[in-house]
Amino acid sequence: MTGPFTVAIDGPAAAGKGTIARALAARFGFAHLDTGLLYRAVGAMGGDPVAAAQALRPEDLQRPDLRTLEAGQAASRVAALPGVRAALLTFQRRFARRDGGAVLDGRDIGTVICPEAEVKFFVTASAEIRAWRRWLELGGEAAPDRFEAVLEGVRERDARDMGRADAPLRPARDAILIDTTSQDADSAAEMAVVQVQAVLPGPGAAAG
Ligand code: CDP
Ligand code: CDP
Repeated sequence: MTGPFTVAIDGPAAAGKGTIARALAARFGFAHLDTGLLYRAVGAMGGDPVAAAQALRPEDLQRPDLRTLEAGQAASRVAALPGVRAALLTFQRRFARRDGGAVLDGRDIGTVICPEAEVKFFVTASAEIRAWRRWLELGGEAAPDRFEAVLEGVRERDARDMGRADAPLRPARDAILIDTTSQDADSAAEMAVVQVQAVLPGPGAAAG
């Protein structure tokens, strides 16, 4: 495919955004940007977060310590700062409208970064199931006493992301809702593939 085509995927932590985004990228050959990584990297850099966001380099996204629960909390704190969001905006917009199609997952892709996205998904699930998934990723059984702490962290981050004044987490008006509370990753991804396929310009579609 030539020309821009954007899939926006938003939703709270561990809803299954990344799983769907990777499936769409693999299926349709879209470039994929996990925008949460940008905020995680800024949060991990320390110092002045706005200066860190302005100076962010691709290699900063390669740090192995960006996936921890602590990095997620630090990300959501710096993500509430308008100066940080402004510094990351142009890069994300350009990525979204690149030729050949792009899928971006985050909190504000369909509402702020790319309101003109051809397809928007809002992926959600109960806080308990999302915390359960994160806890399993941490090795679950190895840390049985940590479930409550993980759940508390998920709730805290949800509240901060939904409550901030700048680009709060909320579904775009035209977003397709996917609730993965009792849906496994493969069937959620397959649902999303069918939705994108229906909108994607085919070889016979009119140009422009
Ligand atoms: O990107 P996001 O934080 O929204 O979630 P993810 O990284 O796609 O998924 C978080 C975890 O939940 C992963 O371990 C997935 O395999 C799992 N998952 C699941 O069990 N069922 C789903 N429908 C989606 C994700
Ligand atoms: O993977 P998970 O859903 O747990 O988190 P993430 O997507 O890596 O995002 C980490 C934090 O970055 C979120 O809690 C948000 O505060 C922030 N974020 C944001 O504000 N806007 C985005 N487009 C992506 C992430």
